[in-house]
Amino acid sequence: MLNLTFLGHSAFLLEAGGVTLALDPFLTGNPLAAGLDTAGLRVNYVLLTHVHGDHLGDTIALASRCKAPVVCNFEVGCYLQTKGIEVVTMHIGGAKLFPFGRIKLTQALHGNSLIENGKVLSLGNPNGFVVNLGGKNVYHAGDTGLFSDMKLIGELDRLDVALLPIGDNYTMGIEDAVRAADFLSAELVVPMHYNTFPPISVDAQVFRDKVSAHGIACRVLVPGETISI
Ligand code: NI
Ligand code: MN
Repeated sequence: MLNLTFLGHSAFLLEAGGVTLALDPFLTGNPLAAGLDTAGLRVNYVLLTHVHGDHLGDTIALASRCKAPVVCNFEVGCYLQTKGIEVVTMHIGGAKLFPFGRIKLTQALHGNSLIENGKVLSLGNPNGFVVNLGGKNVYHAGDTGLFSDMKLIGELDRLDVALLPIGDNYTMGIEDAVRAADFLSAELVVPMHYNTFPPISVDAQVFRDKVSAHGIACRVLVPGETISI
């Protein structure tokens, strides 16, 4: 069994067997996480899809406080090491067995840069994750546009949950995310990356209705909500 908690935007906790993973822990400054008490959050690993501020978020502070390694691509790992953070670097297509389960990096069609000291740092390709924990497979797409190899992701690992961005503008919008849900054949789809800021305002109920019309289960989670799968 796996507990999945939505922390708003693209931030999630996955917990099973005493292991807690944080994905894209954007908490400070996340309007959707404002009411959540995350000050004492304890995690074993942080999984980071890319370094845009709405994903990097509290990664450095959380990883530092919890002495939790960050799982990320090689270039992001090199950057985080300069901040004194322990990292586990991987890259797209690669999978690795951890004490708790398996993580595989998937492609994501997006950018991966940040500005530091007035310079743009471009940190390789962004990614998504397929995480096996507690006997369940969770796909976190990261920020991405639609790509037809999502069919392969669904074929290679039977997905119990797919976390998909739906906010449009920077990522897939509702129509493309519905197609993504079709491609992935996950047991359950959970929308993310919407309504945090005005440019990504969409009606998640419209997404849920469209996905449901395709015979795919969908849960729209409120920040702080936990589901067990
Ligand atoms: Ni982004
Ligand atoms: Mn984003």
